[in-house]
Amino acid sequence: MTEPEVLLRAENVSKWFGATHALRAVSTEVRAGEIHALVGANGSGKSTLVKALCGAITPDEGSITRPGVAALGAVHQNLGLFDEATVRENVCGVLEHRVLSTARENAVVTAILDRLGVSIAPDTPVGALPIDQQAFVAVARALARMGDAPAAVLVVDEVTSVLRGTAARRFADVLVRLRSRGIGILLVSHDIDEVLELADRVTVIVDGAVRTVRAARDLDRRALIETMTGSEVAQPTVRAAVPERRAGEPVLRIAGLGGDFVHGFDLDVHAGEIVGIVGVPGSGYADLPALIAGATGGHRSGRVVLAGRPVTSPSGFAEAGGRMIPADRNRTALVGSGSVLENFMLGHRGGPGRWAIRPDRERTLVDRALAAFGVKCEGPDAGITSLSGGNQQKLILARCLQAAPRVLVVHEATQGVDIKARAELLRHLHFAAAERALAVVYVCGDLTETWDNVHRVVAVRRGTKVADVATATASKDALHQLLY
Ligand SMILES: Nc1ncnc2c1ncn2[C@@H]1O[C@H](COP(=O)(O)OP(=O)(O)OP(=O)(O)O)[C@@H](O)[C@H]1O
Ligand SMILES: [Mg+2]
Repeated sequence: MTEPEVLLRAENVSKWFGATHALRAVSTEVRAGEIHALVGANGSGKSTLVKALCGAITPDEGSITRPGVAALGAVHQNLGLFDEATVRENVCGVLEHRVLSTARENAVVTAILDRLGVSIAPDTPVGALPIDQQAFVAVARALARMGDAPAAVLVVDEVTSVLRGTAARRFADVLVRLRSRGIGILLVSHDIDEVLELADRVTVIVDGAVRTVRAARDLDRRALIETMTGSEVAQPTVRAAVPERRAGEPVLRIAGLGGDFVHGFDLDVHAGEIVGIVGVPGSGYADLPALIAGATGGHRSGRVVLAGRPVTSPSGFAEAGGRMIPADRNRTALVGSGSVLENFMLGHRGGPGRWAIRPDRERTLVDRALAAFGVKCEGPDAGITSLSGGNQQKLILARCLQAAPRVLVVHEATQGVDIKARAELLRHLHFAAAERALAVVYVCGDLTETWDNVHRVVAVRRGTKVADVATATASKDALHQLLY
């Protein structure tokens, strides 16, 4: 048997960012017709390697070669889309000789999106789309760049962390089809099950160095997690950590809440309670975080009352003690030009009727939070964009919990964080609920993850609540049936 052709190769690649040794003599390769997974903890160097392989950054040592690659499509972790531009402009902007009419371009875009199983009008501004649809636009752009080239490579950095349920399955089908055409795929993912299901080979990277390159069939869940983290990771569950308390008045009362795709949504949440909201893409569940938090962008009706105060705007929600973490937080929750410290203090500094926090006190706060949440960075003065994607996510959660809210609405809480950090984040949420009486609304597209971490699950289908069950007594499978 002849060895399959290598399309993309890194040999002894090293990269430093100041004092950070992000890649240490990394060697690996992607072959034609394989899905090659790249896995490792947050900050281990995956995105840096991806950028080096794509030519977006130059290694300090070693070499990158793309023997015989005719076309390379990449979907980076932050997607890199232009929010103000339309879907068509984003997708077709990468085409080399743009001589097509708008109508032809629309046809090209629609055809690619069809192949991905999504329908989005090409004239829609990308910034107006929910995060999972944006991910598909970024994939469409990568496919447009690859065209029909026979020896092509597709590099996907963590896009699947924003795709859930049916969207994730659709995307997996697309990858499998591309593989059967002989395309080489490099897939960065924190989803161990996805990696074991899809990948032919796996490169595990630990602290910037390759730990192993192995056939996926030689690995199981436990072996992969151990290779990645050096230990087993016990996933916490809420039932062990947080006693359910439902006495007294609910701290959050939602009655008849409606939006463009949601209607008549009722929910009461007590202090110390963790309530999950789940649904499939398109069911409307994903609109609830913004509606609960008082977003006024589209249609909004009904009542939300937080600690006795009616919520009619995002600022009112915050003043009543609410915090909301949206799914597309990288775009909306961080100031890219700011430092770690500045981003951590967003929402704490100043504000009407508040004392500013003394600078030395700010440093203590941020130092403590960085340690408690295991945020890997050079320190409070590092630029926020120097943090890896998962470490940015941890900082956002740390910031919201630091504000000691009464209610936290969090959408896709564990998005982008590695399996160990996921367990730590969940423990922080459980602790805040148990010890600080925080009420958590845990909005998530993954029923299994939600089930293990909440007291109650509310299922949304076609814009309405179809179930509200206690996880201690109900059946997860029965609820699963109701989602479709
Ligand atoms: N532009 C930069 N300036 C300074 N340091 C950087 C820069 N980019 C990355 N780093 C550092 O390099 C290391 C590797 O980061 P990288 O983004 O490659 O991690 P990752 O494996 O993709 O993590 P994640 O799973 O969180 O996305 C981290 O310590 C990160 O802080
Ligand atoms: Mg990354």
